[in-house]
Amino acid sequence: MGRVQKTVVSLLCSAVIAVTAAYSLSYADDIKQLTGMRFALLARGGVLYDDWINEKGIKIDKTHPSYPAAGKQKGWGTWRCKECHGWDYKGKSGAYGAGSHFTGIVGIRDYANQDPTVIVKILKDDTHALGSMLSEEDLDALALFVAFGQIDVDLYIDRKTKKTIGDLSSGGRVYLSTCTKCHGNDGKEINFKDEKKPEYIGTIANENPWETLHKVRWGHPGSSMISLVFLDLKEQLDVLAFCQALPTE
Ligand code: HEC
Ligand code: HEC
Repeated sequence: MGRVQKTVVSLLCSAVIAVTAAYSLSYADDIKQLTGMRFALLARGGVLYDDWINEKGIKIDKTHPSYPAAGKQKGWGTWRCKECHGWDYKGKSGAYGAGSHFTGIVGIRDYANQDPTVIVKILKDDTHALGSMLSEEDLDALALFVAFGQIDVDLYIDRKTKKTIGDLSSGGRVYLSTCTKCHGNDGKEINFKDEKKPEYIGTIANENPWETLHKVRWGHPGSSMISLVFLDLKEQLDVLAFCQALPTE
């Protein structure tokens, strides 16, 4: 958005209410404009999008009331944003357009760069029924993620080959000095599944690069895993490229 357009947006919003005006400064800009605790909230939003149930340590047994009857999943997992809207944020237009995670529900792409207060309203609507389950702060965090945290993954990851445009050797510098502490140089220190069918970073990164990129950017819910969202997107993609070069079994 150009400077003139930004000014127009700001003027329009300040005509509404003070809260909305405060948001308008950032929703016209990019992620870098979020500083201090607003950036901390955004980072929390990315983790909550992945799995707010585990991150908050909540117990839920029933399937989400809006999860379609024809869908193949059930139980607590159906409350995760990613389950209905996808790791690629594109819902039925993305990787969840078919297969065991198909729901037919739209993605969240249309709400990128939208006013977070509008997104909070969506999360409190009858479809989502989250108003009583999440604090105002959590809802704000999720809204900041939807507005400024999500990206158009198709610009950086090839849909067919699943390969990223990231640079492996540059990614190695980041991976081998951070991720390696927990996952090991070959990504096999932690097995995400079981002995029979082990899943390592290399496995996930090649099967589901969108999930891996989300984890690289935001960390893993309910764990001590770090977030790399402070780095440039280019460097995050480099890490993904390195992960894709790690052994898959
Ligand atoms: C059980 C399924 C389900 C879950 C879980 C879910 N949503 Fe939704 N979401 C929907 C449905 C259904 C719609 C409405 C789509 C439509 O207009 O037809 C929607 C719409 C949205 C929209 C507006 C998209 C648009 O273009 O209209 C946003 C933003 C959104 N959800 C964010 C979230 C976030 C953030 C979470 C996690 C806290 C979440 N949703 C969890 C089912 C779900
Ligand atoms: C402080 C330790 C720590 C660091 C540093 C760390 N991770 Fe993790 N990571 C974890 C833990 C713990 C899990 C959850 C393991 C489990 O579910 O069994 C995890 C999970 C993951 C997953 C999700 C696997 C899945 O499908 O559930 C991926 C992918 C991943 N890490 C990649 C990375 C990458 C890439 C880096 C470097 C940017 C990194 N991690 C840094 C501890 C860490």
